[in-house]
Amino acid sequence: MKTLLDIVQSRAGTAPVRLGLILGSGLGHLAHAVDGVAIPYADLPGFPHVGVSGHNPHLHIGLLEGVRVAVFGAREHYYENGNPAAMRPALELLRALGAGSLITTNAAGSLRPDIRPGDLMLLNDHINFSGLNPLIGEKTDARFVPMTTAHDPDLRAALRDAAQAVGVALPEGVYAWYSGPSFETPAEIRAIKILGGDAVGMSTVPEVILARFLGLRAAAISTITNMAAGMSDEAISHEHTKAMAPLGAAKLEKVLRRFLRDL
Ligand code: HPA
Repeated sequence: MKTLLDIVQSRAGTAPVRLGLILGSGLGHLAHAVDGVAIPYADLPGFPHVGVSGHNPHLHIGLLEGVRVAVFGAREHYYENGNPAAMRPALELLRALGAGSLITTNAAGSLRPDIRPGDLMLLNDHINFSGLNPLIGEKTDARFVPMTTAHDPDLRAALRDAAQAVGVALPEGVYAWYSGPSFETPAEIRAIKILGGDAVGMSTVPEVILARFLGLRAAAISTITNMAAGMSDEAISHEHTKAMAPLGAAKLEKVLRRFLRDL
């Protein structure tokens, strides 16, 4: 029987991939810049059946700024089917393709007055506010993953350098994972603030845990689409997230392209 790896390599070739990139809401544009193949998730056993509007369910493999990458145009969020490990087959594939690192991107709400809609935030750590974990049920001792440097210091330094080189501000902060799909209440946002969160979103943390479990180095960048609940008069909605994401996406693309070029 053909494995997932066979299926992908028969279309994309067997040259090793260096890095994986998961694109968040409204950030799909970069996937189309990959010079290579685009494989629909529907052709990939174990890949998520993604239902969130604003996502592009294709795996793009090829060259971006001269680096062979695997770009996941969409992710399955926990809130879609209640599975925090939904991205595990995709990340296992990434590992099998030879990648050593994963960069995750997302849309998030900001809890910091100095980080505004349209800005980027580099995650220097995260808080698992959901209490869920993609490794629950994993039987091997590998499940006891150290998370002390889950957001890799070297990757972060390279992303900071890239941002500086292209003149994009890249403040750092702590991302809190909220299960969704409802947005947070103002009281939850005040709680997250007290706990040390700087931004809040519905993804990324399970992927970072899985990446570390699989031995991939990980880093993540949020594009801020709104101030978190109760922090501004603006209404929070998915429509608003999708409308605002392109603002940060242009900056994110600049930073990621430069990061890849300097890799
Ligand atoms: N909360 C959770 N997820 C989000 C938000 C938010 O305010 N904005 C974009 N994704």
